[in-house]
Amino acid sequence: MTQNLADTSRPAADATAHEAGTGASRGWWRDAVIYQVYPRSFADSNGDGMGDLPGIRSRLPYLRDLGVDAVWLSPFYASPQADAGYDVADYRAVDPMFGTLLDADGLIRDAHALGLRIIVDLVPNHSSDQHEWFQRALREGPASPLRDRYHFRPGKGENGELPPNDWESIFGGPAWTRTANPDGTLGDWYLHLFAPEQPDFNWENPAVADEFRSILRFWLDMGVDGFRIDVAHGLVKAPGLPDLGGGDQLKLLGNDVMPFFDQDGVHEIYRSWRRILDEYPGQRIGVAEAWTPTVQRTANYVRPDELHQAFNFQYLGTSWDAAELRGVIDLSLDSMRPVDAPTTWVLSNHDVTRHATRFANEPGLGTQIRTPGDRALGLRRARAATLLMLALPGSAYVYQGEELGLPDVTDLPDEVRQDPSFFRQAGQDGYRDGCRVPIPWSGTEAPYGFGPVAGGPSWLPQPAEWAQLSVEAQTGDPTSTLELYRSALAVRRAQADLGAGTGVEWLDSPEGTLVFRRGSFVCTVNTTAEPVRIPAPGRLLLSSADAVVDGGETVLAPDSTDWWAV
Ligand code: NOJ
Repeated sequence: MTQNLADTSRPAADATAHEAGTGASRGWWRDAVIYQVYPRSFADSNGDGMGDLPGIRSRLPYLRDLGVDAVWLSPFYASPQADAGYDVADYRAVDPMFGTLLDADGLIRDAHALGLRIIVDLVPNHSSDQHEWFQRALREGPASPLRDRYHFRPGKGENGELPPNDWESIFGGPAWTRTANPDGTLGDWYLHLFAPEQPDFNWENPAVADEFRSILRFWLDMGVDGFRIDVAHGLVKAPGLPDLGGGDQLKLLGNDVMPFFDQDGVHEIYRSWRRILDEYPGQRIGVAEAWTPTVQRTANYVRPDELHQAFNFQYLGTSWDAAELRGVIDLSLDSMRPVDAPTTWVLSNHDVTRHATRFANEPGLGTQIRTPGDRALGLRRARAATLLMLALPGSAYVYQGEELGLPDVTDLPDEVRQDPSFFRQAGQDGYRDGCRVPIPWSGTEAPYGFGPVAGGPSWLPQPAEWAQLSVEAQTGDPTSTLELYRSALAVRRAQADLGAGTGVEWLDSPEGTLVFRRGSFVCTVNTTAEPVRIPAPGRLLLSSADAVVDGGETVLAPDSTDWWAV
């Protein structure tokens, strides 16, 4: 077994007041800042236009200096890439496009040496249609015992020409695809909640559960510190796969318990995984990607004997509005308290329009926005939203490039798009390539240091303006978004009341603003377009805009957040 971080003490450089707080003593993950790396788009070491593990490895010092605690890697496993790696053909192999298992081992070791933890993505709801089990199930025909590891069913209608039920794929179109028998005749259908290249596993079959327990151990033995569990709410389907019975399925998603989402049976799986995680030293964790109807139902995934964290998508979906934010913050904290789990906060990831662009547009447009909106406004709000997020109790997720203030690329030509849901139209997603464009590191010519050679390729084109947004261009500029993130993460580490520290106490404040106290720390937020004058809460620590302190008063700039020491 490779050495895990918590087997030894953390490097001295990382031992801070924050580490000594209640969060660290009860579990590092309770207030970790976790940085999501999207391997395709982070750093390309060999110049093929696609990011890779050696590229990530070479940039780990950047992440350590940024001040994050852990890195979550989206899938880098062997995959035909029908859904950018969320279609896994071999769960124990690295796709050659990303490197080798040796590269993964080196990356984990280097990260640990720098005091960073590594969380890998696990995709247990479905495999790739190229997975050996699925290929054999097709080849061996209807009598194959391997068919029971997936959901194969005869079709309805006189000749089986209709899908077995009325479920739709999240990416659009029916959730079923008909197979051909080995003799060429039309055969059974199989279930895929996502693309047809992503057949859903049947978790009632014990071989599936056994296999995933073994996969968990494989990566735990490699030294990973945890797993982000893809579609954690989808593994168990309602018995008999009942029809949904009409209605707009996409509107119901996330608002209702569905026969294929958030079934109570999933929790038994996470209990068994928790037992495995707990066998390993060093507090290995599980993080649920679970889209549930309510924060209360999300809390079910993080009961003491289940997973450690769940993404707070209700927070991600909240508009830049003081009252709405306060509502979701209170609800999130209240919902996690009974299960003693940390609340998590997230503004962006690889599936949604970056928050700098969401906040640049009118509210209510959802998470697949195709207009740039008012960029300056979006960036101002994004910076303010980040300082608010990092001031809240619990753990926070940062998606690569948000620390550079990157907007979504809303004008990608259709011919370069790769998001499978773009090609299936009516689905829930479709424009996710806009947040997946490779990030700029340095230089004035694309790919801006993403790849080793100026003028070299990148799998999605980067906008020309990104030269000014590169890590190099922003480093040392005190007004840059990158330096704001660096400062915020440093203050967060140094302030014992932040992170898992002290609870939130709301203080009275004018409409459109929020003021809350956590021990000797105060956060002020102005979500309005007007400056707001209030009594200065203390000494200004950090400002997302230009807070003006004038005698005993301060003027909160429009769309801004400030941190204060009292
Ligand atoms: C959620 C992942 O974040 C997304 O990128 C993927 O398309 C679906 N799950 C299916 O695996």
